[in-house]
Amino acid sequence: MKRRSLPRSISLLVVICGSLLAYAQSAAGRYEGTATDNSQQIINVVMDLKESDGKFSGLISSSQGDFAVIGGSAHGDAVNLEFDLGGSSGTIEAKLTDGRLVGTFSAGESTGTVDLKKTAGSGSPSAGLAPTPPMGWNSWNKFGCNVSEDMIKGMADAVVKSGMKDAGYVYVNIDDCWQVSRDANANIVVDPQRFPHGMKAVGDYLHSLGLKFGVYSDAGSKTCAGRPGGLGHEYQDAVQYAAWGVDYLKYDWCNATTQDAKASYANIRAALDASGRPIVLSICEWGSHQPWLWGKEVGGNLWRTTGDITDRWGGQDKWPDGSCCSNGMLAILDQQVGLQSYAGPGHWNDPDMLEVGNGGMTDSEYRSHFSLWAILAAPLLAGNDLRDMRPEIHDILTNKEVIAVDQDALGREGERVAKNGELEVWAKQLKDGGRAVVLLNRGSSEQEISARWEDLGYPGGLSASVRDLWAHKDLGKMAGKFSARVASHGVVMVTVKP
Ligand code: GLA
Repeated sequence: MKRRSLPRSISLLVVICGSLLAYAQSAAGRYEGTATDNSQQIINVVMDLKESDGKFSGLISSSQGDFAVIGGSAHGDAVNLEFDLGGSSGTIEAKLTDGRLVGTFSAGESTGTVDLKKTAGSGSPSAGLAPTPPMGWNSWNKFGCNVSEDMIKGMADAVVKSGMKDAGYVYVNIDDCWQVSRDANANIVVDPQRFPHGMKAVGDYLHSLGLKFGVYSDAGSKTCAGRPGGLGHEYQDAVQYAAWGVDYLKYDWCNATTQDAKASYANIRAALDASGRPIVLSICEWGSHQPWLWGKEVGGNLWRTTGDITDRWGGQDKWPDGSCCSNGMLAILDQQVGLQSYAGPGHWNDPDMLEVGNGGMTDSEYRSHFSLWAILAAPLLAGNDLRDMRPEIHDILTNKEVIAVDQDALGREGERVAKNGELEVWAKQLKDGGRAVVLLNRGSSEQEISARWEDLGYPGGLSASVRDLWAHKDLGKMAGKFSARVASHGVVMVTVKP
């Protein structure tokens, strides 16, 4: 049957309405900035702008009060908004360019200028990412610069075959060294020997397995391994990543010289969002500029809190070049104390990737490492060779009861609630009102450790059910405390449910 085409005038209308709608949609989002009134008073403003079927709504919050958005229109880059002043209405007439809304406002007697910048939040492509800590695999801890298409595909197959995907591991992240240079147009060039079919082919393969694709770059001019960094190419790279189907970007901090950390990460988040693709942003500046204080605000989904982890139990040593530091697992753990309140759904403290299975610790130490990372609500990024895992390592990484603690929907990071020399109790509040508890013995001989209900925030007399998450066994109801003998460098991990 021959399809009848629409009359020309109607087609034109459809195109015009379509493009107006596209503009209306791009105006929606969360904005932060200031209004300056005609007496030069500066008013802080946060605006959440929503758009549905061409109609605007939302809320303007300011130091002068909160005002509901009750109407508006967007044509080209012009955005006009009407907000409720209770009996009358105020207006904003502005232009939206590169995520910045600049113009004038009028609110009763008061008039002036507005300058608002779009931030990650409701309405942006990255809104709602990482509601629980990201889980997956990353190439760095085991393979360093030795990355290739074959290895990554093999690892992805292993994520599926080993049951890791079923246990929640979905990101397959290529760390440093996939990139070699920039071409004449400054586009990033992928190593043609190691990735002969390019990055989109890798992304397509991962997506065909139901997995997600992560890459790595750096906020400075070069990555830590000396490959081209992202500085000055943030928007160009973001468009490229989106075209490859990238779902996760780890952004490092080598060679960043005098750059401002917060501004640099806000910039890459804005660039990723401008690509239109939801991409998790992993801030990797090693805690140097206290990213827990600003990481959420700039749209980071996780931020490293420390220098790199090393595959050993504890201790902190200088690197051979004298710089600080190579951190054992416990050294990283100790640096998390006090940071717990900064984590929550969508924005997590990152104590670095897992070393489980890489050979530098005993199985018991790896069980401790995994349990503690779960208590910390840490991103769980395995860093071992999944194609060749001993069953003991497989069983650690896929312990669903421990993973459930990490992924608990409340999104609370746990904390150290008791310490007596080498003996510690760590606890994490769970959504159902229960607690996950780790008894940690850092010492060199077996010891008894007790978790007292008061230390968990419960009344001492409360009767609660205790379940051992490594033995997969209910231990019955207890009141006052739970005690267990804990092996040297080991943990006992339980849930306590009233
Ligand atoms: C830094 C990061 C590591 C890793 C390497 C890659 O050291 O902290 O996690 O990404 O760079 O060069």
